[in-house]
Amino acid sequence: DYQYALDRDSTTLARHVLQQLQSFSPEAQDLSALMNRIALAGKLIARRLTRAGLVEDALGFTGRTNVQGESVKKMDIFANQVFISAFQQSGLVCRLASEEMENPYYIPENCPIGRYTLLYDPIDGSSNVDINLNVGSIFSIRRQEGEDLDHSAKDLLQAGRNQIAAGYILYGPSTLLVYSIGRGVHAFTLDPSLGEFILSAENIRIPDHGPVYSVNEGNFWQWEDSIRDYIRYVHRHEGYTARYSGALVGDIHRILFQGGVFLYPGTVKKPEGKLRLLYESAPLAFLVEQAGGRASTGSQEILDVIPDKLHARTPLIIGSREDVALVESFIQEGD
Ligand code: AHG
Ligand code: MN
Ligand code: MN
Ligand code: MN
Repeated sequence: DYQYALDRDSTTLARHVLQQLQSFSPEAQDLSALMNRIALAGKLIARRLTRAGLVEDALGFTGRTNVQGESVKKMDIFANQVFISAFQQSGLVCRLASEEMENPYYIPENCPIGRYTLLYDPIDGSSNVDINLNVGSIFSIRRQEGEDLDHSAKDLLQAGRNQIAAGYILYGPSTLLVYSIGRGVHAFTLDPSLGEFILSAENIRIPDHGPVYSVNEGNFWQWEDSIRDYIRYVHRHEGYTARYSGALVGDIHRILFQGGVFLYPGTVKKPEGKLRLLYESAPLAFLVEQAGGRASTGSQEILDVIPDKLHARTPLIIGSREDVALVESFIQEGD
């Protein structure tokens, strides 16, 4: 009987979005089309990463720095451009904002009709690119408010609760796409022979507690006492294990499936930490909340934070409910 395998292999991402919304409303069609464009971007990036050691200009640095002052890799620029190309002539997205662009990019032929904005981290975990370890892309879709004729993009400075879709692509041994449109969290595996993302895990639920703590302990002496105390607690108790890959997407993916907590706290030099709210912390917080977990700055839910600028940063504590609460209890004791 072929039916089971055929039905499974036919549950593509675009179809799943329509099923989730159980309608053929204009919004369902829009979201399905948006996710299809994101999937195309993921496939283009995965294709280049797969052969990165063999093609010209795939590895290494560009020699430039981005608005955050980080050294930019060639793959950051390639992936940034891929998303722009994927959304041309979509009619859906007038503006794209990313880690690698100081200001949003406007696609004139989609403006002002485009009703959505894409915010993204084209390559998350850039330091892993040159050594062939996992990297990701993070995306967030927001409704565009107003026509933004002066290109100030002020309407983007809103809480993460207003995201209408969010997710990531993980370029690992398989390429996975994990997304939510506010109706649970679902994972798709790229079948390269079909060139399609096929549903591989539906309604993912994050465990309430897990063994993993994921943090760059090299920053130990730059943290507040409260974070140091939490890490000392973990060191003195059984049942914890450290995992930190240098790519947020991979670390969060592990925690989504197996439980635990990821932290990027503020440091003395950078009280807001490193991770950017609009295209890193907020989309991942949206997913993790949809899976039954939590994301906090230590004193506020990530999804309630209203950024004061496009590239604003926040401390991030994200993962299983009980583990996030434990970290928060140390921070609140310290206050
Ligand atoms: P990006 O590569 O998009 O700049 O993000 C890197 C982020 C994140 O993926 C990772 O968790 C973190 O930076 C690693 O930073 P440290 O090297 O400071 O630990
Ligand atoms: Mn970067
Ligand atoms: Mn990143
Ligand atoms: Mn990045």
